[in-house]
Amino acid sequence: MQTTPAEKGITQKVASLYNKFPFPAYPLWARLKWSEAYTLAPSFSEYLAKSLGLDLPNPDKSAPAKRSLIIGSGDTQAVGFAHWVAPIKHEIVCNDLAHANIKRMSRKMAKSFWLRKKPNIAYEARDINDLLRSCIAENQKFNHLECYGVLHHLAAPSQTLHLLAKVCVPGTTMRLMVYNPTARYWLGQVSKVFRIMKLTPYDPDDLREARHLLQLLAKLFPLYYGKRVRPWMMKRENTPHFVDAFFHPRVLPLSYLSWKSKLEENGFEIIGLFDRNGELDDLPNPLWCPPTPDQIEDRVEDFRFEHNFELFCRYKPQFAPNNTEQDHSRQKTSELKTPSPPKMAINHLQQNSTLKEQDILYKKLMRTPVPQLWTSYSETQNISHKTITRFWHLFLGATICNLEINAQEYKQDTVSQQALRRLGRIGAILPSMVTDKTLYDEIMAPMEKSMEGSDYNEKQSIPVKSRKKLEYFLSKNFKRKNILSEKRLNLSIARISQGTLGSQELNSHT
Ligand SMILES: C[S@@+](CC[C@H](N)C(=O)[O-])C[C@H]1O[C@@H](n2cnc3c(N)ncnc32)[C@H](O)[C@@H]1O
Repeated sequence: MQTTPAEKGITQKVASLYNKFPFPAYPLWARLKWSEAYTLAPSFSEYLAKSLGLDLPNPDKSAPAKRSLIIGSGDTQAVGFAHWVAPIKHEIVCNDLAHANIKRMSRKMAKSFWLRKKPNIAYEARDINDLLRSCIAENQKFNHLECYGVLHHLAAPSQTLHLLAKVCVPGTTMRLMVYNPTARYWLGQVSKVFRIMKLTPYDPDDLREARHLLQLLAKLFPLYYGKRVRPWMMKRENTPHFVDAFFHPRVLPLSYLSWKSKLEENGFEIIGLFDRNGELDDLPNPLWCPPTPDQIEDRVEDFRFEHNFELFCRYKPQFAPNNTEQDHSRQKTSELKTPSPPKMAINHLQQNSTLKEQDILYKKLMRTPVPQLWTSYSETQNISHKTITRFWHLFLGATICNLEINAQEYKQDTVSQQALRRLGRIGAILPSMVTDKTLYDEIMAPMEKSMEGSDYNEKQSIPVKSRKKLEYFLSKNFKRKNILSEKRLNLSIARISQGTLGSQELNSHT
């Protein structure tokens, strides 16, 4: 599969954007809370996979040290990743298309691991497909892939998944985040208006006008844009995020089902879904047992599920990527079943590192604070500091050192059933940590009978007064750029109105 000139053009535009606006561009001196990124740890994905009774990645003990590939790492992610790995023997290949991101990343890494044992990391500033082709030629394999917020920006994600499959070993795990296109539909429409206005992120005046338009929309449509335009978008220091959201040259609006099919076509199965915002509380624990595509699509369509798709995947051991004729019957029967009864996980970290190294990592992580996310839900906010810290240490013991957890540990304090369920959904408690069948079933169960849809799918009509204000703002900007025309005005207003469309209308427009 060769890269077409059109694909090259897309990749070049994406590279220019991130070279000018490195992402997420946290200041070099910022002190980030790495414990917050606990799902970034390869040990998390592995423990989850093993807990679900799935095979270990790379069961061959004679295989070289464990390796992870970070795809489109931006300027920060690999530093967090390294904190969850070093000092364990673990090779990290950190890839990003933008040189600016990689340059900032290596500086952050040097600062973060100053006077400490440096992580074993190789930086690769180039298109992921080029890198994968080199890895395939050299027969390089990876045990874990980190791919957060990247696939939907690629010129040809199917091709990338096809190449990725060739650098996997049976059971390779992957953390993947792709956009929820329905929830981001409004954002796409506003981006199109910016394009009609010929605004570019490279001109500070244009960025200022783009923000002004958002503010105006929030004021004119408080029930729709008002609920979505966030204060962070207005701050100058968040320009890289603003540009990433509204000026991206490539955002593929693929549905959950399309991503799932693409993954499966290339041998990856989804093993868990991270429901960060608690929008799937009427379903059994989606992290321990991924919902069906219909369950997700129904909730996406009526805006009950607005978060991005944060997925944990695994490369299916039996899958042969080079087979042109795929065995579809096998793929169907290998759909995940509800994992029961739970099995003890054997953490793969143990295979390639010494107990001493694991112990150092475990002790180092024990000193980090409990992730704030764990106590940010109504059900968990009242858990005492002592109890949640104990849960944090149990989590680290299990995922880093494979310590066996007695299920009684979760029962001895007065933690409500709903709180335990929430902790299970965000991976603070993983299946193998709960060997007691009754407790396991309790944590797996839905938290609510049903979930409310939002009122976003009420189409907003544009009142005459608001239309006039919009026309005034747009005309002023078109004049500034010397591009004033009736057609542009009408097109922009149509897009703004379209941005408030509900789910029914949406399907015919995406
Ligand atoms: C939205 S950012 C996500 C960054 C990072 N994963 C995070 O979550 O902070 C997308 C990243 O993907 C990178 N990227 C986009 N296209 C790429 C490609 N073809 N090859 C490698 N990286 C790419 C961009 O340079 C950018 O850093």
